Amino acid sequence: MKRLAILGASGHGKVVADAALASGWGEVVFFDDRWPSLQSVGEWPVVGDTSRILEQAPDTDGVIVGIGDCQARATKHALLSDANAPIVVIVHPMAWVSPRCRIGAGSVVMAGAVVNVGATLGEACIINTGATVDHDCNLGFAVHVAPGANVSGQVAVGDRSWIGVGACVRQGIRVGAGVMVGAGSVVVADVEDGLTVFGCPARPSRSF
Ligand SMILES: CC(C)(COP(=O)(O)OP(=O)(O)OC[C@H]1O[C@@H](n2cnc3c(N)ncnc32)[C@H](O)[C@@H]1OP(=O)(O)O)[C@@H](O)C(=O)NCCC(=O)NCCS
Repeated sequence: MKRLAILGASGHGKVVADAALASGWGEVVFFDDRWPSLQSVGEWPVVGDTSRILEQAPDTDGVIVGIGDCQARATKHALLSDANAPIVVIVHPMAWVSPRCRIGAGSVVMAGAVVNVGATLGEACIINTGATVDHDCNLGFAVHVAPGANVSGQVAVGDRSWIGVGACVRQGIRVGAGVMVGAGSVVVADVEDGLTVFGCPARPSRSF
């Protein structure tokens, strides 16, 4: 029975566990820095912290970070990667992922999501429930496309950026690194690195 170790016993971690079990993994265990005071999450045991998962990674069938926050996920993913841990990709069986796209290690594609032809996802990305990433998009490292967000064709999204729940991004737009796009926003112009933008049309938060 294949055993998956998830680092991060959060709500998002539980969704990763659910998707993993639906896609053929036999067993899930969690690791979290709140261990040993945190002993379980949902029906799953929490069996150690980050140092433990790094020790045990070579004997595990697969590992993945289950943290929604982009910076925290990027940091933990880099630790696993440096330790040569067997980092996996999880795709829920109810997602559509074109065989003509590339998905980096440690990425997850949740139920109802679509990743279309020609898209490239970096490592540790989240394409969350019902989100879409359309043709020829290029997502960097540790990008999170939140539930129900739509990223149109040929959009580039920089490392650690977060496209908020229900937001949409017009085709061909460049979203920089470390950007937060607010919930329900409509992005119709390029966004510089490090900005928080929201609204329709999305504008930097400093102008509100
Ligand atoms: C954009 C965002 C980061 C701003 O957070 P914040 O800095 O804490 O902002 P606040 O909640 O203090 O709101 C500040 C103002 O912006 C407005 N605002 C906040 N988010 C907004 C949004 N997405 N669209 C429109 N207006 C928004 C608020 O109504 C408030 O307006 P007011 O000053 O007139 O009352 C946040 O609201 C957001 O949308 N996060 C995305 C969350 C998400 O997608 N989660 C997915 C989980 S998987």
